[in-house]
Amino acid sequence: MTQAPMSEFPDIPRHIAVIMDGNGRWARERGKPRRDGHRAGAESVREAIDACRELGVEYLTLYAFSSENWSRPADEVTALMGLLDRFLDEKARDLDKQKVRLLTIGQLERLPEKTRRKLDRLRDRTRGYTDLTLVLALSYGAREEIVRAARSLAAEAAAGRLDPESIDCATFASRLQTAGIPDPDLLIRTSGEMRVSNFLLWQISYAEIIILGKNWPDFRKDDLKAAVAEYRRRHRRFGGL
Ligand code: FPP
Repeated sequence: MTQAPMSEFPDIPRHIAVIMDGNGRWARERGKPRRDGHRAGAESVREAIDACRELGVEYLTLYAFSSENWSRPADEVTALMGLLDRFLDEKARDLDKQKVRLLTIGQLERLPEKTRRKLDRLRDRTRGYTDLTLVLALSYGAREEIVRAARSLAAEAAAGRLDPESIDCATFASRLQTAGIPDPDLLIRTSGEMRVSNFLLWQISYAEIIILGKNWPDFRKDDLKAAVAEYRRRHRRFGGL
């Protein structure tokens, strides 16, 4: 579909970040294995992407796998990696058509080699698109990201190439993996939990937070659109009056 020009939707969030929670509960409620919940959750990912394209949202960041998720049972980790591979295979076909650019954040070196290669190829192939950027957070942890940024600044200061007094918020943000990406305006979490779970801790400082009661596999385009409508009703003050 043709996208409406941004000016028609002045209050649309530029960047939406999502904590996709409740796949396990969705499966349990149906007497199914957890991997079925994740598989249904992968369908909701497509819904979220389509809703963002229809609204003219520029960035969508999805928390697909946290650094803590590695401690889940091996068969669940394998199922999640398999779903990611399948998603990337399918997306290789239609990200072009949809003009969606793929970016990733997280410790990708921990992912299977095959998955890393797919991600590299798809990032490369879609790098020119500007309509929507899909940022997949994979093996991601915000504290780890912040520690890496601090370490890189400390190394430069120790080498005498950086004056510690010159470090400000912009310098720090430029060392995060999200450098160049605007901070999320809206953070959505499903399944009713009121936590941020080590997700984008620096970047969500001023994000509006919306918690939805439903589990992620039940998330549809209209849920994202309703969250955006709620976001537009909120008065954003950035700490001022
Ligand atoms: C949280 O549910 C969800 C995850 C740990 C993984 C999210 C993954 C997907 C939606 C599918 C694959 C992703 C892509 C990009 C294709 P949970 O298992 O913690 O649920 P629970 O809290 O109910 O147990």
